[in-house]
Amino acid sequence: MRTSVSVAAFGVVAAAASAFDPLQHVNLFIGTSNGGNVFPGATVPHGMVKVGMDTDGDNFAGYDPNPLANVTGFSQLHQSGTGGAVPLSNFKLFPIPECPVNNNHFEQCLTFISGRKTLRKLLPSGLPDDFASPGYFSTNLSTDVRAELTATRRTALHRSRASSPELSIDPTTGRMLASGNYATSFGIARYNAYACVDFRGEGDGYDFSGPSEWGPYKINYPDLNGVNLLQHYYSWGSEHGGLMFFPANPNGSPSSILVRVGVSFISTAQASQNAEEIPDFDFAGVVSDAEDQWRDILNRVQVNSTGVDDDTVTLLVSLPDAYRPWRLHWRKPQMELNRTLLRRVLLQLYVFCLLLAVCACAHVTKGHLPDAIPPRMSVSSLTTAVLTTLQMSLDDPENFAHIVRGMINIQQHQGWLPEAREAGQQQFIQGGSDGDEILAEFYVKFSKYAAALNVSATDLYNALLADAEDTPPNWNLQGRQADVWKEKGYIPSDTTYAGGANTKQVSRALEYAFDDFAISQVAKMMGKTADAKKYASRAQNFHNSWNENVTLSSTSTGSGLPPNNSVVAGFFQPRFANGTWNFTDPRHCSVHDPTQSTCFLNAIRRDGFYESSPIVYSQYVPQDTAALIALQGGPDAFTARLDWIFTSSYFDPTDEPSQQIPFMYHYANAPGQSTQRSRQLIASSFNTSLNGLPGNDDSGAMASYVVWYLAGMYPLPATQQILLSSPYFPEISFTNPLLGKTTTLRTKNFVGNPTNGTGGTVFVKSVSVNGKPYKSNCYLDWDVFTSGSLVEIEVTDDIGVTCGEGKDALPPSLSTGGYD
Ligand SMILES: *[C@@H]1O[C@H](CO)[C@@H](O)[C@H](O)[C@H]1NC(C)=O
Ligand SMILES: *[C@@H]1O[C@H](CO)[C@@H](O)[C@H](O)[C@H]1NC(C)=O
Ligand SMILES: *[C@@H]1O[C@H](CO)[C@@H](O)[C@H](O)[C@H]1NC(C)=O
Ligand SMILES: *[C@@H]1O[C@H](CO)[C@@H](O)[C@H](O)[C@H]1NC(C)=O
Ligand SMILES: *[C@@H]1O[C@H](CO)[C@@H](O)[C@H](O)[C@H]1NC(C)=O
Ligand SMILES: *[C@@H]1O[C@H](CO)[C@@H](O)[C@H](O)[C@H]1NC(C)=O
Ligand SMILES: *[C@@H]1O[C@H](CO)[C@@H](O)[C@H](O)[C@H]1NC(C)=O
Ligand SMILES: *[C@@H]1O[C@H](CO)[C@@H](O)[C@H](O)[C@H]1NC(C)=O
Ligand SMILES: *[C@@H]1O[C@H](CO)[C@@H](O)[C@H](O)[C@H]1NC(C)=O
Ligand SMILES: *[C@@H]1O[C@H](CO)[C@@H](O)[C@H](O)[C@H]1NC(C)=O
Ligand SMILES: *[C@@H]1O[C@H](CO)[C@@H](O)[C@H](O)[C@H]1NC(C)=O
Repeated sequence: MRTSVSVAAFGVVAAAASAFDPLQHVNLFIGTSNGGNVFPGATVPHGMVKVGMDTDGDNFAGYDPNPLANVTGFSQLHQSGTGGAVPLSNFKLFPIPECPVNNNHFEQCLTFISGRKTLRKLLPSGLPDDFASPGYFSTNLSTDVRAELTATRRTALHRSRASSPELSIDPTTGRMLASGNYATSFGIARYNAYACVDFRGEGDGYDFSGPSEWGPYKINYPDLNGVNLLQHYYSWGSEHGGLMFFPANPNGSPSSILVRVGVSFISTAQASQNAEEIPDFDFAGVVSDAEDQWRDILNRVQVNSTGVDDDTVTLLVSLPDAYRPWRLHWRKPQMELNRTLLRRVLLQLYVFCLLLAVCACAHVTKGHLPDAIPPRMSVSSLTTAVLTTLQMSLDDPENFAHIVRGMINIQQHQGWLPEAREAGQQQFIQGGSDGDEILAEFYVKFSKYAAALNVSATDLYNALLADAEDTPPNWNLQGRQADVWKEKGYIPSDTTYAGGANTKQVSRALEYAFDDFAISQVAKMMGKTADAKKYASRAQNFHNSWNENVTLSSTSTGSGLPPNNSVVAGFFQPRFANGTWNFTDPRHCSVHDPTQSTCFLNAIRRDGFYESSPIVYSQYVPQDTAALIALQGGPDAFTARLDWIFTSSYFDPTDEPSQQIPFMYHYANAPGQSTQRSRQLIASSFNTSLNGLPGNDDSGAMASYVVWYLAGMYPLPATQQILLSSPYFPEISFTNPLLGKTTTLRTKNFVGNPTNGTGGTVFVKSVSVNGKPYKSNCYLDWDVFTSGSLVEIEVTDDIGVTCGEGKDALPPSLSTGGYD
């Protein structure tokens, strides 16, 4: 498929004020195969509703680049990069050029997915003839139908309820009103969705006032001239919808049918109202509008790409936060967006049928059961749940504030900050209350602007306190196990508590400690000294889960340790309520686990860890790496341990708990090692291919990871610091529209990037800000960005560089007073 954007093809010429137009480099197909589950359809920045193609292939987001995958429909609602089960993908529209049975007999038209599905046309490369650019998607089906999709978005809604699928048809206009109740992909709740669908002919006098034949269908049984699914005699099944035949263009020439779909999570009335957002069915206008929105947001990051290969530029601009939906859908339910979609189907044949499936098995080959609780999940948790919001701190604080307002609003209505969400419904929490980190990140970075951004500091703080202090009725879905955390300072692994699953005890405790750190930073900025102390102290509770007596030695299979009796000592471990310890093999859930366990969600597991090994989790104390270094025997032992994690494949690029490990050498004053490890990771695990992401994108966690690394930085949530390495560009700049400031990172002696990430002239030797030597070569304070600065970075080929000489050269840690 073609993967780059030709803006001019849509008659919309870039208002190219800047030399670098990011839209020219975007490749939306990265990560659409190999479990990346990325969505490549049409949407606008941070769009909630995403119009795209569904197939019976493997991608949970609908689209599969495999040429053997059949197209099953084009639907409005998708999520990008999630695990669990297939999310959303409902209200599928499907163009059928003719119903081959019995000379297009309406009642014998095959409506069932397996009967109607079709392959795509192929390009000479063997890939399907699909095209995607920001705000636009098109494909050519083997039936000679060409489908083009685009989208707009508008304002806010509330919610209410509906039950079984409903569909009504107005035979005069062809308008279809549809609704259904659907399972979420990673939780127990269900949600309602509503649609209003209208049609219009386009081109060469093609003008019809309504369908020539119409009717609802159940399973494989269309009901000619029926107007309501409910009155259709055939019994309920797994697939229902409406089918329409349209008259051919009397001129006999190929024409298009424009289909406008208004969507709502409230009601069909709201969906109909939303549909009027595109009163004139102006397809080109909607595309150009979406492109303007994308250009506005993508232009905030500018690079000089001299001496940088095209793939690196493509990776940078193709994976920004705005493409990734909020996996946690924080803006809902109180801040839902209504949106109208417009699509165009080019008719090559004379008879045209269009089908709207209200309810259909999303991916038949996967046998997706609507109510199945998925065996695994992918949402980001831990620090990296917030990687995408950290990106928004740099260049999109208004949208960040919008998300924060929505989260606070949800807390005010439901008691706790939202965690995992789909279509406004709660899904399963994977870690702690990571919403705390998002709110704290916002406040720590933008406290001065909170009021102007309509974020109430009082409401924000109360929301944090609710997570920290109040135990919810079900901490699988919201909040934390706060009572036990407050009582014990760890989460016991043997006692069964009412209110949630007794699982992932150790990893939850580590997250709770980090959540409390985030709250302490907000309290400090608000001048709440006692609270700041209290939560900083709770942030030290990770010590309660550290067992220095658990060791892994060279005699353990797969330990990767040298054979002369070497030992790694000290790991986070599960602990009983009476204070004694249980034991979980440090290799548990790693590639070297002798029992080959997985650490996915399972209510009966007592091993204590989620989605990563104790070895990985034993590096997870972002708030106090200095203390971790002490626990692990000092800087040399610490870096040796990090090396061992990489060389023995304990590092897991596919999951969030590992994400900060490459940068941890900074804290041991060995930043050159961080630079090399992070660059090696990019070289080995991320690229512009269809399979260019190592596992689920996790709604942007992986994508943000790449963007930060390419920018030569790694963010520390809820702090004033950003770790610094070398950018992949001679110059990269971030424009913050709220502050009206641009900060540029310039590499003084840039000579290019080593292709395998190893070696090169990329190690940071010195840093100056606005011409003055900076206090550290290892991090930048946030005020560098708020004031709009020129950061000049001198690089060397000597990997043995350090953070510098002064007392503030090392990045801060709680136990060394670094955040005071
Ligand atoms: C596409 O449909 C054909 C015919 O039903 C089937 O043989 C094939 O397996 C389908 N492709 C996928 C990826 O399921
Ligand atoms: C589909 O076919 C049309 C007309 O032949 C062509 O212009 C277009 O580039 C093709 N590909 C896509 C993805 O639309
Ligand atoms: C979207 O929803 C909001 C809130 O319900 C409403 O005010 C607005 O008119 C809707 N947009 C359209 C175009 O219907
Ligand atoms: C881009 O970077 C190159 C290499 O450092 C430099 O020679 C060139 O002047 C820069 N271009 C601009 C427009 O700054
Ligand atoms: C804040 O709220 C005021 C009043 O409702 C509104 O006029 C303003 O646009 C809002 N500002 C932002 C940044 O949302
Ligand atoms: C480790 O063992 C020493 C010696 O037996 C003991 O004093 C210490 O309490 C143990 N530590 C833990 C965390 O159990
Ligand atoms: C163990 O052997 C490795 C090489 O195999 C060596 O680098 C290391 O110094 C040895 N350690 C001890 C404690 O002898
Ligand atoms: C502590 O609890 C564990 C698990 O419930 C139990 O096996 C152990 O005997 C207890 N130890 C003491 C000293 O009570
Ligand atoms: C102790 O840990 C093992 C291994 O993870 C686990 O199977 C067992 O259930 C745990 N025991 C208790 C009492 O939690
Ligand atoms: C691209 O990245 C994927 C995912 O990490 C990896 O499996 C694949 O080998 C990489 N491809 C190339 C050409 O490097
Ligand atoms: C990385 O690439 C450089 C330059 O091509 C080469 O000398 C070096 O051996 C490579 N290193 C590894 C680990 O592949």
